[in-house]
Amino acid sequence: MINKNSPIPIYYQLEEKIKGQIEQGELQTGDMLPSEREYADHYAISRMTVRQAISKLVNDGYVYRKKGTGTFVAEKKIEQPLQGLTSFTEDMKARGMTASNRLIHFKTIPASTYVAHSLNIPVDSPVYEIQRIRLADGVPMALETNFLSATLVQGLSEEVVQSSLYDFIENKLNKKIGHATQIIESSIVNETEMELLEVKKDSPVLLIERKTSLEDGTPLELVKSSYRADRYRFIINMERN
Ligand code: GLP
Repeated sequence: MINKNSPIPIYYQLEEKIKGQIEQGELQTGDMLPSEREYADHYAISRMTVRQAISKLVNDGYVYRKKGTGTFVAEKKIEQPLQGLTSFTEDMKARGMTASNRLIHFKTIPASTYVAHSLNIPVDSPVYEIQRIRLADGVPMALETNFLSATLVQGLSEEVVQSSLYDFIENKLNKKIGHATQIIESSIVNETEMELLEVKKDSPVLLIERKTSLEDGTPLELVKSSYRADRYRFIINMERN
């Protein structure tokens, strides 16, 4: 029930309630939500409050609006574990989904100060800059830009990066990938990301920067990614010691 005497805002109580129904499966992917009027009547609250709750759920990717029809439960977000150093291709395969890539560009550029520092190579030495859209079952999930030393990772080509980069490094170049540091922060899409990820203006994204090294400690890649926050959430298990 909604508690009007609670210090917790009413819109937030309704938002949490609907979210709970989705997480518990009472509302399933594709189900139509009751109308604003129905919620308002049922809980004796204003339609404005209902709208506020639903807008939050739309922004967070739990539901989506269809013009002239109603509001529907969106597909469940991909839950990505933060332990384990895996590739996009492996992650999708583990879920029974098909990974594919749309190559935006593949070029060799002189390393900027930041890239050079990250890869521990001289400034201006050649690096590959690879930008790809990563798709799951044909749906864009992330825009990813990798920087790799062209001296270290030889033989990379447009064709190779149409499939798994990690597979090429480990199975063709026989280099062992060992370790990565990843930073995640929130943002909203810029114009390019909006178009490439096929999302609306101001949609939320999770910016991820990964620095990966080979087993022997040699820096392998610097990766900047924008993951759709309406399709992704991250999970980690923690032990108290
Ligand atoms: C993930 C990581 C990237 C990594 C990529 C390799 O998407 N965020 O840092 O470069 O996997 O994926 P793949 O081997 O499928 O090309």
